[in-house]
Amino acid sequence: MKILFVCLGNICRSPLAEGILRKKLNDQHIDGTIHSAGFEPYHEGQHPDPRSISTARKHDIDISNKLARLFTVNDFDIYDRIFVMDALNYADVMGVARNEEDRKKVDFLLNQLNAGSNDEVPDPYYGGADGFDKVYTMMDEACDQIVRLFS
Ligand code: 4NP
Repeated sequence: MKILFVCLGNICRSPLAEGILRKKLNDQHIDGTIHSAGFEPYHEGQHPDPRSISTARKHDIDISNKLARLFTVNDFDIYDRIFVMDALNYADVMGVARNEEDRKKVDFLLNQLNAGSNDEVPDPYYGGADGFDKVYTMMDEACDQIVRLFS
């Protein structure tokens, strides 16, 4: 299964989600393709935010090599599921979906914890380091549920 996480800048939330899920799959020897992308080009080609890198590192996850990239319509052809962080990301991705097959792939990440709730992973960019720990915990729990989709 191929999974794409999407946030706004692809430097804070989605690279962290990518690292979390990849580690869970690696630890359980499960094959999968996990990537992340953003919708805004502000940080295209850049490494993750240092606060995301250090939050990941606290959990033995290395995301320092990731480079931010933009979401493209082609991603609908590559990935089986596309998980977004918030309502803006959802509107952005759904806005470029071509058909019902594309739209069916897209969901809020936290709907893996509370189906249909459309709860958001808040953008930690303008806050302090504790915001990154909070989003880590939310995304870690949601990724435990995603691992179940592989079996
Ligand atoms: P992300 O966080 O969407 O989780 O990567 C953000 C990163 C950068 C900006 C906004 C959100 N920005 O405005 O530059």
